[in-house]
This record gives sequence, C-alpha cells and structure tokens, in this order.
Amino acid sequence: MTHNRDWIDNAKKNAAKVAITHVKDKYIIGLGSGSTVAYAIKELGEKVKIEKLEIFGIPTSYQAFLLATKYGIKITTFEEHPIIDLTIDGADQIDPKLNLIKGMGAALTREKIVASASKTNIIIADKRKKVTCLGIHDHPVPVEVIPFALTQVENQIKKIGGKTVLRKGTGKVGPVITDNGNVILDAFFGLIKNPSQLNHLLKMISGVVETGLFIDQTDLVYLGTPDQTEKIEKK
Ligand code: A5P
Repeated sequence: MTHNRDWIDNAKKNAAKVAITHVKDKYIIGLGSGSTVAYAIKELGEKVKIEKLEIFGIPTSYQAFLLATKYGIKITTFEEHPIIDLTIDGADQIDPKLNLIKGMGAALTREKIVASASKTNIIIADKRKKVTCLGIHDHPVPVEVIPFALTQVENQIKKIGGKTVLRKGTGKVGPVITDNGNVILDAFFGLIKNPSQLNHLLKMISGVVETGLFIDQTDLVYLGTPDQTEKIEKK
C-alpha cells in the first residue's frame, strides 16, 4: 500500500503529539533527529510555553539544535546534565523486539550516545516503519566511518557479507559529512536475522565510529497513522 505525503505527515504528527505527553517539568530531554522528531520538537516548544515548563534539551544533531532554539527549548550538555530523563527519537525500521535501524539522517552516533544516557527512550514513527525483520526491503544499515579508514572499512564489511554505498550529499558534491566530520557507508546485508551479532561485528572494525543498529535500547514505540497511534511497549 502506498501512502501520500499528507498521510505520512499526519501520521508522524500524531505519533509526535502522543510522545510529548510523557514530558514532565524539570526533565532533561534527548532530542532526536529527522522529520518525525521535527514535529515533536515543535510540539514540545508549545508545551513548554503553555505549561511554563523548566526543561532542557540535549540535541542529537545540528538540525535538532536549530529546531530546539527556534521553538524556545533551552539547550544543555552532558557536562551539566549527564543523565537524560527521556529521549524522543525517530527510526527507519522497527522490528518486533523494538530493535531499530536508524541513521538515514546521518545523526546515528549522537543519537546512540543520547539513547545510552537516557532513562527512557521513546521512538516515534509512521506505521510504515514497523517491519517483521530489520533489513527487509533491501534497507541498509548506516555506518559512520572515519574518512581515513573508508577503504579499509569497506573491505571489512564486504568480508562479513555486506555491500556498501558511500552516501552522497545533496546540495553539495561528494559524500555526506556528518556533524562529527565523518562519512556514512550504507551497508546492505539483506534480512538481518541477528541484529545484535551484526552490530558487534561492525563495531569491531577499526574506523567504524558507530552503527545504525539500535539493539535493546527502546522502551516504547508510538506508531502513527492519520487516525490513531499504536503504542508498543518493550516486553
Ligand atoms: C537520523 O539519523 C535518523 O536516525 C532518524 O531518526 C530516522 O532516519 C528517522 O527519520 P524520519 O523521522 O525523518 O523518518
């Protein structure tokens, strides 16, 4: 089934709205990245204004930082607030165990750091992101790589059965450069039967900074459609 732009946008907005109801006064909030989280950050800014909340955000990307400041959300750092109460982030694929593929926005490394520092992680997405197995529909695993190691990492990923494509930028020539000054390899493995094992194998490669496989980090998922939002909790 194909969905039009309005369907997708309304589905994302619905999931974002429900997630924001979890935010309480004095919370430190991890601000994920991507188009779904963009709705959540806008919604959060309105909630802060109306309810006069004293919250601080830790953004996972330059995009999230700019949106947070635009919508009046104060920013903090790990140095000031090492523990995050709640992170709201998006995902590219979500499996039945709530393992994820993330990183189509190239913000995966900071997203994983923030998720690891969070007491609670909520993922918001439109319903299309729910899958039976990660990697289905030939979806790649984004891998952030130190540019110096690019060829070495490509060769090592080939050895463990992956095909890689260096992600190209739009609005500039050459590769996407992440907020950390690195490049992204989109690694295709087909169906990923054991995401945890693949994550470990990838992380063992020298020059890999982080992978877009988020294993056992998600507490709650809100999957939106234009009419309703499905809640899926970690078992
Ligand atoms: C950013 O790097 C990603 O992890 C995003 O969270 C993910 O790609 C979901 O983005 P959308 O909400 O735009 O689909």
